Amino acid sequence: MAESMQGLSRTCRCGELSVKNAGDPVTVMGWVSRNRNKGGLVFTDLRDRSGVLQIVFEEGKTDPEVFEKAQKLRSEDVIAVVGKVSKRAGAVNEDLATGEIEVIGESLRVLSQSLTPPFPIEDKIATKEELRLKYRYLDLRRPEQQKKIIMRSQVVNRIRNFLAEEGFIEIETPILCKSTPEGARDYLVPSRVHPGNFYALPQSPQLFKQLLMCSGFDRYYQVAKCFRDEDLRADRQPEFTQIDMELSFVDVDDVLDVNERLLAKVFKDTIGVDVPLPIQRMTWQEAMDRFGSDKPDTRFGMELKDVSELVKDCDFKVFTDAIAAGGSVRGINANGQGDLARKKIDALIEYVKTYGAKGLPYIALKSDGSVKCSFAKAVDEDTVNRLIEAMDGKPGDLLFFAADKNKVVWDSLGNLRLEIARQNNLLDPKQFNFLWVTEFPLLEWSDEQGRYLAMHHPFTMPMEEDWDKVDTDPGSVRAKAYDIVLNGTELGGGSIRIHMDDVQEKMFEVLGFTKEQAHEQFGFLLDAFQYGVPPHAGLAYGLDRMIMLMTGATSIREVIAFPKVKDASDLMTEAPGLVDPKQLEELGIALTDETREGLNAEEE
Ligand code: AMO
Repeated sequence: MAESMQGLSRTCRCGELSVKNAGDPVTVMGWVSRNRNKGGLVFTDLRDRSGVLQIVFEEGKTDPEVFEKAQKLRSEDVIAVVGKVSKRAGAVNEDLATGEIEVIGESLRVLSQSLTPPFPIEDKIATKEELRLKYRYLDLRRPEQQKKIIMRSQVVNRIRNFLAEEGFIEIETPILCKSTPEGARDYLVPSRVHPGNFYALPQSPQLFKQLLMCSGFDRYYQVAKCFRDEDLRADRQPEFTQIDMELSFVDVDDVLDVNERLLAKVFKDTIGVDVPLPIQRMTWQEAMDRFGSDKPDTRFGMELKDVSELVKDCDFKVFTDAIAAGGSVRGINANGQGDLARKKIDALIEYVKTYGAKGLPYIALKSDGSVKCSFAKAVDEDTVNRLIEAMDGKPGDLLFFAADKNKVVWDSLGNLRLEIARQNNLLDPKQFNFLWVTEFPLLEWSDEQGRYLAMHHPFTMPMEEDWDKVDTDPGSVRAKAYDIVLNGTELGGGSIRIHMDDVQEKMFEVLGFTKEQAHEQFGFLLDAFQYGVPPHAGLAYGLDRMIMLMTGATSIREVIAFPKVKDASDLMTEAPGLVDPKQLEELGIALTDETREGLNAEEE
């Protein structure tokens, strides 16, 4: 039977007590983490968000009724204890922050009883994630989970304080928005009042924050929930949080400067990491050429080298065909892997195939001085030797090559580089390497749509130096866009925005919008720009990713209180779910026959 807490008032949290409090009367409340019955003594470990505290009930000294109740306590019961802090009679527990003390229990109330939980409420459990997420409220009771969620709150507080001091104003923007065609797939919300019409949940507050610049707020920020219906991965959720900002009368250096100081402050104050400023900058082209990625992990080398020039006239068709088709041949040197077993090399060959590579030619420089070249039959010895020299190969090294379109070469070698680093523990979790990647291409060709798409979004300013190429060679135009990368993860991104009509019009033209289409989609923004728009720019961080990296978590699910799983469902609430047909009727929505058949099949 649960008891009331009437008349009791908690005096402190469990973890807040120390030897300094010896002799103090206290009232503590929390969850029974463990209850040990040792003859005439009951030891109860009481847990709350601040830590664990040992309570002792002693037969003969404690009121017999209280002692009997204490004996029956079970894990996860919620209790209130009134007692006195005392230096431990027994051995000090070094593992506990409160290990030098205990509370001698005088009275006890069982505020709520618990069933046996489906998994132990403690750190480092091997329980499957599905079960933890089904009972997320219990999973969140575990100290390591609480730490992450609490750190998240601290980080948000620090960011808020920093930005407020820098003159940013926090402004909320709508969640029910208009669907825009660019970017990921939208989550749609049907309108009851306007049957057949839909709101879209925001993929980001992009257009609103630009409008706020038109309104003169000058520096805006928001802790913004964003929604994107895209394939989920360890660092992607359908709803996630951005730290979103926009600034007026600024250029690239101004945005990068305030953000570097923000990152340095937050990382230092939260996890004690020094971020040396200024943060290194690298153009997109350099990042791709050296690391095969626009978000390079710079904690280790193994950089790509372009050997196209060296092999362009050799007899190996894989190389020469790739170059003739406008691609390239590049390699990486996996230092110290020369004696890698054939099976493991084969596994790496399979791995790069997932990135579009058709194969993975290699030269293994065995530590005994022998050389094994997988394409030896197709090339002469001189070419092999020149490749080894170009790749700086030494006995004991393994050289891998990719020959294809640049995109495939970069993707394959960039990811292979990471995979080899993971297999060889080259990724130091204590190292935090920040990097700005700048000068992204403005446009990206889509084979699927047969047109250019904006790489960032349609409001990103092209670099002035490249503007004359927008008609003749749009693919080569660079943008005033930047990403902040941390240890190979894209932490945030942003750009200088277009504030000139003629540039924006041209941009829409290149993206294949007619004037009417542009107006229909973005009319409100284009109209606003007719009434005096300041030059402006912005950036947004993925907050979940930031906390994931700070806490050393391997997935953003770990740092989101109630995350979704791979198929975008919530295992605890079982969202999404079916709704009453009446609700659909009200919205003027009918399920297609195909959908209904699918649902029926699921039921059976
Ligand atoms: P972008 O689309 O690059 O830019 O998003 C900014 C940052 O948000 C994070 N992010 C995500 N995090 C978790 N799950 C997702 N599905 C997800 N998608 C993105 C990433 C990313 O770097 N409006 C622009 C910003 C600007 O130009 O100011 C924008 O949204 O960390």
